[in-house]
Amino acid sequence: MSGESKKVEDMNYFELIAWLGIGSSHPGGFPATQQNLAAMQIETEQYVLDAGCGSGLTACHLAKTTGCKIIGIDISAEMVEKASLRAEKEGVSHLVQFRVADVYDLPFDDNHFDFVMAESITVFLDKVKVYQEFYRVLKPEGRVADLEMVILAELPPNIRTEMKACFGSATNPLPYEEYLEALTQAGFLEVELKNPQRMKSNGNVILSELKKDWVLVKGLAEKASYLPSLMTRLRKNSSFMKKNRGYFGFGLICGRKPTPPTPPARPEKVGFKDWMRKLLHRK
Ligand SMILES: C[S@@+](CC[C@H](N)C(=O)[O-])C[C@H]1O[C@@H](n2cnc3c(N)ncnc32)[C@H](O)[C@@H]1O
Repeated sequence: MSGESKKVEDMNYFELIAWLGIGSSHPGGFPATQQNLAAMQIETEQYVLDAGCGSGLTACHLAKTTGCKIIGIDISAEMVEKASLRAEKEGVSHLVQFRVADVYDLPFDDNHFDFVMAESITVFLDKVKVYQEFYRVLKPEGRVADLEMVILAELPPNIRTEMKACFGSATNPLPYEEYLEALTQAGFLEVELKNPQRMKSNGNVILSELKKDWVLVKGLAEKASYLPSLMTRLRKNSSFMKKNRGYFGFGLICGRKPTPPTPPARPEKVGFKDWMRKLLHRK
């Protein structure tokens, strides 16, 4: 999608963030990412998938800080292009690769990754189906960690409608317990919630991240003529979150893929000759 061929006000939420190339388009922004990565303790030798990686800020940061190998996938070719450019500019292309793929049908073999992470993607999708796909590509003992927006109370219909107008009609945050239940249904063990937080007063991560991320800052000059409608659009999302932040929180939904249970030991096969021998030697 090219921003030049579509007006900002006509873009859907994913098109908007891909056009901007926003790096931390999730609740809590980059500080939440740093806090979560610290809790996950990913090691150098681990092989990581960042599902719905956006413009690759988290994946590149993880590569730089741990030296582990990462694949980031996203359904948006525009995001993947920006993520690859980021990896190149930040000198981590030897560790991180980005490719276009659908999280419902990952182009990887079973039992492939040590770690699957996601940030603000399952909130828009069928949680159990996505977690089943994560389960498939994880090695036994592999871990999943998914940072998502959650609801702390039932959303009144008018707020749900407004939320969908801001973030897209598929937006469907659940209470924490239901995310954990979805992980369990997909087969994960040790499901738990880490780093739960309430939504901050500055709910709009895009506005707060604008100043920090060079991919965004670089692109803004070219987008100057779009700025008035862009700011209107971002303020709409921001004021929705500020007004309704009491309903929302976010946290890291974690689980572990079990080691396949070892099949029960078969009883020793006793052939006819052995049976006769045993019988004859019996007193
Ligand atoms: C809210 S953004 C989050 C991006 C990134 N994880 C971050 O935190 O900045 C959601 C991302 O999921 C991607 N996405 C949506 N549906 C997808 C799918 N079915 N498969 C892969 N990526 C998808 C979008 O293109 C978008 O980049």
